[in-house]
Amino acid sequence: MAHTLPPLDPRPDLPADQVRDFARDGHTVVRGLATPEEVAAFLPPIDAMVRKVAPHFGALESRDTYGKAFLQVPNLCMHDDAARAFSFAPRFAKVAAELLQVDGVRLYHDQALFKEPGGGHTPWHQDQNYWPLATDRTITMWMPLVDIPEHVGSMTFVDGSHLRRAMGDWIIGDESEAAYESMRHEQGFRTTTYGAMKAGDATFHAGWTLHRAPANPTGMMRAVMTIILFADGTRVAPIEAPQQAFDQQIWLAGAEPGTVIDGPGNPLLWPV
Ligand code: SIN
Ligand code: NI
Repeated sequence: MAHTLPPLDPRPDLPADQVRDFARDGHTVVRGLATPEEVAAFLPPIDAMVRKVAPHFGALESRDTYGKAFLQVPNLCMHDDAARAFSFAPRFAKVAAELLQVDGVRLYHDQALFKEPGGGHTPWHQDQNYWPLATDRTITMWMPLVDIPEHVGSMTFVDGSHLRRAMGDWIIGDESEAAYESMRHEQGFRTTTYGAMKAGDATFHAGWTLHRAPANPTGMMRAVMTIILFADGTRVAPIEAPQQAFDQQIWLAGAEPGTVIDGPGNPLLWPV
């Protein structure tokens, strides 16, 4: 119940060099953004929501590469008070606004990404291929709710790839993995991974940052919660691909291209 949850209050500003490095690299890590005690309060309700819908995903072996990567459960904050307290947390939204160097950020949506025991790799992709958002000021916070050991690991990011914006029009899957992997060999991408992470550490990456994640060879569930935010004042972009038409309906309530996004589904989370 929400009233027993710890408040995720804002913290002091990030160091200036971290903000500068994010602008250059398109990713960063904030260790200990939530304490183990705070995470322990939010894990049970979020875990329960994911496990409730998990049977609908079917057997791991029967899914395609994208399906094997994780149990993807979006929009938790609209169905559960605890998830809402987590995804609307001023602490997280403030970090997003600082890294994007904007005055305010709005919610695009949240989603749990639980990589199951034996779950497959997450293919190379750029998130923003999906999003009809007319800005490059978009960001995802990715926070494990359990400790992730080195041999499970976190994402790998291509440094500075956000500055190139769309590097292809692939959505996530075998094709995107093959295409970006050959680009990596041809162009010699510089990459970064933050490796093992503790529950409550968080990575942040820009919407155009190219990234992937390794498979889960362990018997533990890689429980991760993500929050996607964008700069206040952003307009709906022209719809150029079917996945963007889908996002326009689901996450922007069908708002027309050119419209400033300010509906109830996209609340202003910072400043509060
Ligand atoms: C993952 O959790 O494996 C990938 C997350 C992402 O693509 O943002
Ligand atoms: Ni992604």
